[in-house]
Amino acid sequence: MKAVILVGGQGTRLRPLTNEIPKPMLPMANIPFFEHTLRLLKSYGITDIILSSGYLGDHFRDYFKDGSHLGVKLTHVIEDEPLGTCGAVKNVEGLFGKDTVAVLNGDILSSVNFEHLLLFHKERGAKVTLTLYSVEDPTAYGLVPLNGDGRVTEFVEKPSFDQVTTHWINAGIYLIEPEVLKYAPKGQNYSFERGLFPALLDKNIPIYGFPYSGYWKDIGSPQNYLKAHHDILEGRVTFDYHGQEVKPRVYIADGCNISDKANLFGPSIVGKNCSIDDNAFVFSCTTIGNNVKIAKSAKIYDSIIFDDVEIGENCIIKSSILARGVRLGDEVHIDNLSVLGDEVKVGHRNYLAKGIKLSPQSIIKEDQIRF
Ligand code: GTP
Repeated sequence: MKAVILVGGQGTRLRPLTNEIPKPMLPMANIPFFEHTLRLLKSYGITDIILSSGYLGDHFRDYFKDGSHLGVKLTHVIEDEPLGTCGAVKNVEGLFGKDTVAVLNGDILSSVNFEHLLLFHKERGAKVTLTLYSVEDPTAYGLVPLNGDGRVTEFVEKPSFDQVTTHWINAGIYLIEPEVLKYAPKGQNYSFERGLFPALLDKNIPIYGFPYSGYWKDIGSPQNYLKAHHDILEGRVTFDYHGQEVKPRVYIADGCNISDKANLFGPSIVGKNCSIDDNAFVFSCTTIGNNVKIAKSAKIYDSIIFDDVEIGENCIIKSSILARGVRLGDEVHIDNLSVLGDEVKVGHRNYLAKGIKLSPQSIIKEDQIRF
């Protein structure tokens, strides 16, 4: 079976992190998130993979090249204009044979079992099978009600609470028979959820839902991106990360200089060539990237720190995300899901506590913000 992974979206909910890096290339436990998806597919023998990108598409091609170092064969197709989820797949249909194709949204962290999914699809004679996941608040997603046989009866996109008739949402992982793409227009922006799938239902073409109860997370918002890191660190989803386990669930990569008086609590990860000074604390559920400097008595809780960040003395960082090359002076506090874009500089004694989002290269001089 071949797979198409859709990675052409702009990732607006994750701005400013996605201003210069497409969402699936953001680090997840210190490796590009997209690598996880490739490894998952490869573990089911799916190695012929088409990558449908658009926004900042060169990043994928430059980093993953033909995929051979990961044991997969990647074909990159970069759209000039966004074609939407179905339009993107229609655009590459010439690369499919007659066999079933797996289609994946590129921003999903999951452990979906593709063997079970394919078996389910074949046994039912489905033309499309959608993986379904149950969430507490389905209003931000597409709902997929089923009949007693597991056939999809309708698609309800981002419903209000009074329209909620099922807890099953579209998990963004499908199997399709390529023949259904004949109902999709070529070269147009066209969506699966609003376009092709409802059109197939109108023609009574069998679409089935595969209820999935394993790990699943859409990493597309700061909250979910942070939560996905927690889940990886807590071992709720399998993930390969680099580094040696120096004490229970504290992984440290090569070349680090960590003071004997620093305190690290697991689960946490520290990338290559980092320095952590006396009396600094790295608390649980924290990921530190490569080449990060953490000065004396700084405390980091439950946060994601990208590569090349410098954190001054006595800083406190909680539940926040610092992108590549951020520099913090001394006694800076950052809290409450704040997101600092690439190379932001924050001078001494600023308090950024209200989930602030700072654009790349912003500069905040010392003693400017206290909220
Ligand atoms: P937000 O802007 O934050 O909603 O994120 P997004 O741009 O990724 O959009 P969304 O979550 O709706 O997209 C779901 C998946 O489809 C993501 O993996 C996107 O990269 C991908 N995708 C969305 N639109 C397109 C498109 O026009 N072309 C391609 N190739 N992929 C797309």
